[in-house]
Amino acid sequence: MTGPRVVTGRAPGKLIVLGEHAVVYGHRAVAAAVSRHTVVELTAADGPTSLVEAPVDDARLRQAIALALPATGWVVRVRSNLPIGRGMGSSASLSIALLRAAAAARGERLSTQDLHDQGFPLERVFHGNPSGVDHAVAAMGGAVVFRRGEPPRPLRFPPTSLVVLDSGTAGDTGAMVAAVAARRPAIDPLLDRLGALVEQSLPTLGDPQALGAAMNEAHALLRQIGVSTDALDDLVDLARSCGSPGAKLAGAGGGGVVMALTPGGSEPLLREARHRGIHAFECVLPEA
Ligand code: MEV
Repeated sequence: MTGPRVVTGRAPGKLIVLGEHAVVYGHRAVAAAVSRHTVVELTAADGPTSLVEAPVDDARLRQAIALALPATGWVVRVRSNLPIGRGMGSSASLSIALLRAAAAARGERLSTQDLHDQGFPLERVFHGNPSGVDHAVAAMGGAVVFRRGEPPRPLRFPPTSLVVLDSGTAGDTGAMVAAVAARRPAIDPLLDRLGALVEQSLPTLGDPQALGAAMNEAHALLRQIGVSTDALDDLVDLARSCGSPGAKLAGAGGGGVVMALTPGGSEPLLREARHRGIHAFECVLPEA
């Protein structure tokens, strides 16, 4: 006896190493997939397509499902081990996993370009004016150098150990991008400097001291732009006091996570974070 037809789609989350916010205005960004994923499972069923399991109950998730799937015929389950709304690309990984599952339901496989093109309207549901970097990484995996409006380029990025520290609150990417837009043109020199840091760092991504210095400067710039919070600044300070050569908020800010390089080992920072009740975990970029 055969059970109901089940298909799945899967996609990774990401961390932006350098260039968030500036990438919305045409500068390049470097981002990499992380080994945490969203999985969308579709089970064939009679009746309207319905969502029965999700990490969070979010109207935008239902909207994205309505865009990606037929109105009838599927029961949808969404599972993710990414922290949601923390700047780690949970919505982009959902969008790409959903598109992969929808394609599998039609007996198709989408190319990376198709995923990128079809992911854009879904990301707009979540973020209003996304640059496209998040779903480019979710679609391609690995590490990517990205400029808005150009095809994303895979990037050789040496395996890099880091610790992700969770501020405990979510940031709203759409709201943060809108807040930055409202502060222009006064902050344009800061966005330009963030873009210049990416260009300057591309040849030295494998050098933790050089990359760390760029990440430290990037955090200071993001702070001046107004997207950091006291909690994020405290996490950056904590990482540096535990010997990290570089730490910065990752993603849109206003909450979310800090990423801290740990070339000498993650244990001292993880231990200190645990001691203070901060949720923290180790990551190696890019996803293997
Ligand atoms: C969000 O992960 C990154 C931002 O640069 C927005 C975007 O690029 O769409 C803040």
